[in-house]
Amino acid sequence: MHKKAIVVGATSGIGRELAQILSRKGYKVGITGRREALLTSQVNEAPDIFVPKVFDSTAENALGHLQELVEKLGGLDLLVFSSGTGELNERLQDAIVQETNQLNVLAFSKVMGWAFHYFQKQGHGHLVAISSIAGLRGSGIAPSYNASKAYQINYLEGLRQKATKAKLQIAVTDVRPGFVDTQMAKGEGKFWVAPPQKAAKQIFSAMIGKKDRVYITKRWRLIAIILKILPTWVYKRM
Ligand SMILES: NC(=O)c1ccc[n+]([C@@H]2O[C@H](COP(=O)([O-])OP(=O)(O)OC[C@H]3O[C@@H](n4cnc5c(N)ncnc54)[C@H](OP(=O)(O)O)[C@@H]3O)[C@@H](O)[C@H]2O)c1
Repeated sequence: MHKKAIVVGATSGIGRELAQILSRKGYKVGITGRREALLTSQVNEAPDIFVPKVFDSTAENALGHLQELVEKLGGLDLLVFSSGTGELNERLQDAIVQETNQLNVLAFSKVMGWAFHYFQKQGHGHLVAISSIAGLRGSGIAPSYNASKAYQINYLEGLRQKATKAKLQIAVTDVRPGFVDTQMAKGEGKFWVAPPQKAAKQIFSAMIGKKDRVYITKRWRLIAIILKILPTWVYKRM
């Protein structure tokens, strides 16, 4: 019997690679995103494994699409939220702030809430979301992106506490990548840029271990420690 997973934001990057790994590990995988052709090409590779659903995560009826996808899959054990947007915004353009919040904050919360309730009713499940190391501190070049990732980190911690206190069999894994070589890796001075395949492999092992959180790649944990201890008077000049 296949386990059932949905990867929200599976058309490219980390989500796509995770969907590929899940397909090889015996899952039936629901894949979503706006770019239909990129979903179709995956379905063509393994029509019995992938079930596509084309929609924008920020759309009004996103949860209706997810519900339909669960019905097509015949259940749900794992939901991965890899949909995300992040533009540099040094000029503090409101349109970028709005777009970031629509997806990374509002759509994220909506999907997480829906999946949490689904798993609560079912009695078990696993929620995974790709936040970012960017959520640990503010950013002068992308303030709303970093703030949205801080929101995700905090929200996931809240869901984890809620599940634990209610003794629910719901695992919540917060994935915090550094740089991964996708469209999303923006800005100057990138380093330790991981290929998406490597990132997805490490994310998958953290998922299997039902880890609360994981830095991707592993060495980014060092940067996380440094970021957390840097005093404000130093950080604000960097
Ligand atoms: N790459 C990095 O260095 C890095 C570092 C830290 C965290 N992250 C996080 O990792 C996650 C995945 O990003 P990625 O690096 O894999 O980049 P990516 O290749 O650009 O993937 C982003 C995914 O989000 C989907 N998406 C974007 N807007 C959407 C919308 N409105 N509705 C539905 N789907 C939407 C895209 O699909 P469609 O365009 O087809 O809709 C795509 O599948 C993001 O949350 C990002 O913040 C990335």
